[in-house]
Amino acid sequence: MFSASAPGKIILFGEHAVVYGRPAIAVPLTQLRATAVVTPSSRPGIRLIAPDLGQDVMLTDAPPDDPIAAVIRQVQTAVTLPTLPHMTITVSSQIPIASGLGSGAAITAAVVRALAEFLGLAHLATPAWVSALTYEVEKIHHGTPSGIDNTVVAYEMPVYFVRQQPQNHIEPFTVARPLHLLVADTGVRSSTKIAVGDVRRQWQEHPAKFEALFDGCGRIAQAARAAIETGDVAALGPLMQENHALLQEMTVSSPELDRLVTAAIAAGALGAKLSGAGRGGNMIALVTPATATAVHNALLTAGAKSVLATTLA
Ligand code: MEV
Repeated sequence: MFSASAPGKIILFGEHAVVYGRPAIAVPLTQLRATAVVTPSSRPGIRLIAPDLGQDVMLTDAPPDDPIAAVIRQVQTAVTLPTLPHMTITVSSQIPIASGLGSGAAITAAVVRALAEFLGLAHLATPAWVSALTYEVEKIHHGTPSGIDNTVVAYEMPVYFVRQQPQNHIEPFTVARPLHLLVADTGVRSSTKIAVGDVRRQWQEHPAKFEALFDGCGRIAQAARAAIETGDVAALGPLMQENHALLQEMTVSSPELDRLVTAAIAAGALGAKLSGAGRGGNMIALVTPATATAVHNALLTAGAKSVLATTLA
């Protein structure tokens, strides 16, 4: 039996603008993980089981857009094996899907790793390799991903990320003073592909306006990185507010997200913003140990379906 896992992710600053080459900051959400288990099988073929999704199919019968099937094809192409041994792949995930926490990328990264191990190719499965294959699968689902999600889940470390050619700029950074975050779920599922596509359409219609919005997000991400590295936690709150306002202008917030952001601030959070593609999914609030409980309760009262506390240290 070969098992591997990968974490969820939170984008702290710079989502959407990162697709257009502006810097963004993301961190792994290590408490929530996707896990893949590969077992050799005596039955012919490749069986895919995803209990969370109620799925149990043979690869040959899987729909053409099946996400796990796409991962298997990517790995098979990458390792240039004409046929794969018989096996069962079981995938489970604690990361809610379509909620801005990188569930798709985490599932892909976990399957890539577990498959590489099963095939006796664990030496290939460096973070860079896992990230690159995960990116290829993300492209199938999301069209034009920036590459930040696959990077964070494959490297499993906080990153300052800039999408660029010929190679993305991926820089780990240090966290001088712990950041206490609450991650609250609106319970509204939303498609990254649709949100990213809508931003693209608006950018095409109003290029100057959207370039300015993206520049604003990039400046905020740079300032936030400096604040995180110098331990200036107080400076991060207003930067989150500013970033949320720019995301509202890009039309990727939602009434549910705005309600949670407002409630968090009113209850004493230093700052709050949506995280990820938006239109639903999760928001994050920066708190102190002294304000954490009040903000947590306020988020639940304002309609959060769940609130998770995480510390970035
Ligand atoms: C999604 O987690 C983050 C977005 O910026 C899209 C991307 O970077 O590919 C919205």
